[in-house]
Amino acid sequence: MSGGLFITFEGGDGSGKTTQAELLGAWLVEAGRTVVRTREPGGTEVGVEVREIVLHHRGDIAPRAEALLYAADRAHHVATLVRPALERGDVVIQDRYVDSSVAYQGAGRVLDPDAVRGLSEWATEGLAPDLTILLDLDADVARTRLDSARTRYDRLEAEASAFHTRVRAAFLALAEAEPSRFLVVDASLPVAEIAAAIRERVAGLL
Ligand code: TYD
Repeated sequence: MSGGLFITFEGGDGSGKTTQAELLGAWLVEAGRTVVRTREPGGTEVGVEVREIVLHHRGDIAPRAEALLYAADRAHHVATLVRPALERGDVVIQDRYVDSSVAYQGAGRVLDPDAVRGLSEWATEGLAPDLTILLDLDADVARTRLDSARTRYDRLEAEASAFHTRVRAAFLALAEAEPSRFLVVDASLPVAEIAAAIRERVAGLL
């Protein structure tokens, strides 16, 4: 994919992904790279509408429908934004990708993780990240962070502690299964220390 680099951030709600994605993006811009910062769900205009449904719809959404909504957002995002950026040679830094679906819809909602992954592979025509940074944090610590930052929770954040504990375990299992794609960082460390660990790993890819 001609010089492009696809970096995804994963982790539970409240693990600090957005802060770290911003810091990494700024560092890469200083190093002279063209950086596209984006996220799922909601990285495109269509995605913003899907995000509204999947995060803020009042009332239940069947787990399989939820999985399809995330996959639909992803299909459009990859086709119209991510792949074109990588083909131009840009660095794409993205909050959440396929691993979030496997962890949240697979382990969280208890759908077959292979089926959930298969949906996303179809949706993205198999586009995989070059590097995935997992910010790992105890679910209850993450909840305390969110409590101080939020006035209201979205549908996923509002799930019980057991849900978020399953999600965390699923992310760690994904990282263990693919150590060459993942960097796992302890998200309870100071922001600057986490950022330095991430820069060190990314420098090796440039
Ligand atoms: P995020 O944008 O990280 O939330 P916020 O901007 O509020 O910090 O993610 C939104 C939520 O969507 C988050 O709880 C995780 C969930 N999610 C899934 O369940 N499956 C997915 O495939 C994705 C991408 C996100």
